[in-house]
Amino acid sequence: MEIGIAKLQDLIDHSDNIVFFGGAGVSTESGIKDFRSVDGLYHMKFKYPPETMLSHSFFVSHKEEFFDFYKDKLLECTCGENPAKPNPAHLKLAELEKAGKLKAVITQNIDGLHQAAGSRTVYELHGSVLRNYCQKCHKGFPASYLYKADGIPKCDDCGGDIKPDVVLYEEGLDSDTMNGAIRAIMEADMLIIGGTSLVVYPAAGLIDYYRGDKLVLINYDATARDSVANYSLHGKIGEIFSQITV
Ligand code: APR
Repeated sequence: MEIGIAKLQDLIDHSDNIVFFGGAGVSTESGIKDFRSVDGLYHMKFKYPPETMLSHSFFVSHKEEFFDFYKDKLLECTCGENPAKPNPAHLKLAELEKAGKLKAVITQNIDGLHQAAGSRTVYELHGSVLRNYCQKCHKGFPASYLYKADGIPKCDDCGGDIKPDVVLYEEGLDSDTMNGAIRAIMEADMLIIGGTSLVVYPAAGLIDYYRGDKLVLINYDATARDSVANYSLHGKIGEIFSQITV
């Protein structure tokens, strides 16, 4: 059922165990392109398809080209001249957590903006550009180290290659993160899903663990799973959340 802000506010007012499940659409109002919208990353032309360049096998076989794409399209918005900042969607979720109403954010995003907004319990299903490790000695590096490196970023201790802690296609998701997210969804009395096309698994499959009757879907476009929502709002999630009071 399509609802308005007033009904969303009422649902939130009467819930004290809210979980949020989100995707790239939560960060577009921070200036970060999503993947599948008409102006998203996957509709842009590159030498190789973006999903190929973001795969484990491409990372192994074309490491230089991987980092060219990764720095330009995924790191620029975090380390570039105008780093992305949390928008009202991130800020409202952090406010709801602070008020004890929201228990967890589960995100497919790797931009760290939920934590930057103040959210504490964040399950990053696809990792984070903010965490990077040497593949030989496992030393940690900030995103800025990779952004500034020429070509393939190398460990300044052992010379090993550095890999971002980002889940590439063909790679598995972290089991502790998955289990934490599933537990949160199973215990939730309200599940808000926002800014995601719900087409990538296993992430999208997590919403099937929800057992309540207050599943709210907030998305600009229709999604693959609109039919499972109890309530839906179609619009910009930052604009919608900016009208919610905690
Ligand atoms: N407000 C609400 N919805 C929005 C907004 C916005 N401001 N901006 C975009 N959207 C919606 C789009 O309509 C789209 O349906 O967000 C959705 C984003 O979908 P995708 O681009 O497919 O992003 P996502 O669902 O996060 O992709 C999942 O795919 O390539 C992988 O690992 C990558 O984590 C990513 C995964």
